[in-house]
Amino acid sequence: MQTPDPSDSLHHCREVHVEIPFQQRLQSLIRRIAMPNPTDVQDAQPSMILYDDHGPATARLLDLAIGAIQHARTEDLSAISARMSTAPRWPDIWPGEHYKLLAGIVKVLQPQRIVEVGTYQGLSAITMAKHLPQGGRLYTYDITPYRQIPGHIVLPSDFDGDRIVQVIADLSELSSFEANREILESADLVFVDAS
Ligand SMILES: C[S@@+](CC[C@H](N)C(=O)[O-])C[C@H]1O[C@@H](n2cnc3c(N)ncnc32)[C@H](O)[C@@H]1O
Repeated sequence: MQTPDPSDSLHHCREVHVEIPFQQRLQSLIRRIAMPNPTDVQDAQPSMILYDDHGPATARLLDLAIGAIQHARTEDLSAISARMSTAPRWPDIWPGEHYKLLAGIVKVLQPQRIVEVGTYQGLSAITMAKHLPQGGRLYTYDITPYRQIPGHIVLPSDFDGDRIVQVIADLSELSSFEANREILESADLVFVDAS
């Protein structure tokens, strides 16, 4: 069992994975050296603004970000964090954890189809499902069924009515990608949180 590292957004996964891959440890080390926490606040997460070949962010993207942040400030995820048997209750940690922002993005975007890569305990899945519009569906992919993850938060009843569907597939495999092409292409929002 490793001590969780609060400077890494994957720390809650580490509680069950004893062996951290070398590449991941190296990336974490480089990040800490390149972007050291300038404060004595324990949970500090760096963020980046990146430009791609298509140029700067569009007005629509900026509006989405502003709307999502505004909503996240007042988002109440206490009903979700209450399902957790132990602290820290990540959905209540804002800023620094992504749950409130995810809820805000879904609230603003109102996507009919969400694809998540990386279910783990299901925290982000049920958080995003909270504001999924009527008839919407969230597909959450993982290589491990949530039932096998200690401390899983999602319950079998969360899958009633197929609002949330877990798909077991390794999306690093091209064949899995092909097999799931239709679902992946139907997504209005894709959240990739797998490592
Ligand atoms: C950071 S955890 C996800 C946490 C979750 N999204 C949340 O915020 O509550 C990463 C998960 O990604 C899964 N994963 C890693 N590689 C994957 C792959 N190639 N395809 C599907 N899932 C993968 C892992 O099994 C793990 O459960």
